[in-house]
Amino acid sequence: MLGFKRGAARRQTCPIACGGGANRVYYHPMKTQILPSLLAADFGRLAEEILRAEASGADALHLDIMDPTFVPNISFGPDVVSLAKRTAPGFYRNVHLMMNRPDLYLDAFAKAGAQTIQVHVEADCDLHSVLRRIREMDLRNAIVLNPETPVEVLAPYLGEIDEALVMTVHPGHGGQKFMAECLPKVAWLRERRPELDVMVDGGVNGETATLAAKAGANQFVAGSYLFAQKDMAAAVADMRRRLA
Ligand code: DX5
Ligand code: ZN
Repeated sequence: MLGFKRGAARRQTCPIACGGGANRVYYHPMKTQILPSLLAADFGRLAEEILRAEASGADALHLDIMDPTFVPNISFGPDVVSLAKRTAPGFYRNVHLMMNRPDLYLDAFAKAGAQTIQVHVEADCDLHSVLRRIREMDLRNAIVLNPETPVEVLAPYLGEIDEALVMTVHPGHGGQKFMAECLPKVAWLRERRPELDVMVDGGVNGETATLAAKAGANQFVAGSYLFAQKDMAAAVADMRRRLA
């Protein structure tokens, strides 16, 4: 299984003809990926924190965008996505839109440098057209599911997504406890789309990532666990060892 490559390899033709566009050619499904969530970074040193995450050997940066009518918090917007692009151009940017109207902001986040755009199934928009629009912009799309939402609602979208994100906490804040009861949703997705990238987000550390991997997840967002480490690279390496 090929992993995604950074830098110069980025715009080469895909060696396994995945059908992806210019931004997707190097991002092959089902690789184990670890994504530090910038929400847990020291906001007074954002550029350094982005570089620290990149240097840790993690696969991509997870950027949490919050609309306070969708979650009980506000984080940051497209400017931080473009900061990430400027600071670490080769570090893949996975953008999680916790927003009621992601349709109104797709262009802004694409312009800022998002490479995957994740939208919630609970959002108040025409999801089919949002998912299509993201692909038309040559980005990867993903659909996100809150803990209280039954996974079956994803059935009509399964043929239209590059990735699914199963929330393992209630979105809005970092540092919450992992909800293992969400893992059957991961297994449901894995069974129906064996090659799909399935991500978990919330309360992820070395131990809970292993539980999620057993259920079928292959992408792991970790915020407070990774950014709290003095040696993030060692923590990423330890997670990889456990997930291997
Ligand atoms: C929660 C966000 C998560 C958050 C995870 O609303 O979507 O990405 O940063 O943080 P931890 O890993 O601390 O639970
Ligand atoms: Zn997130």
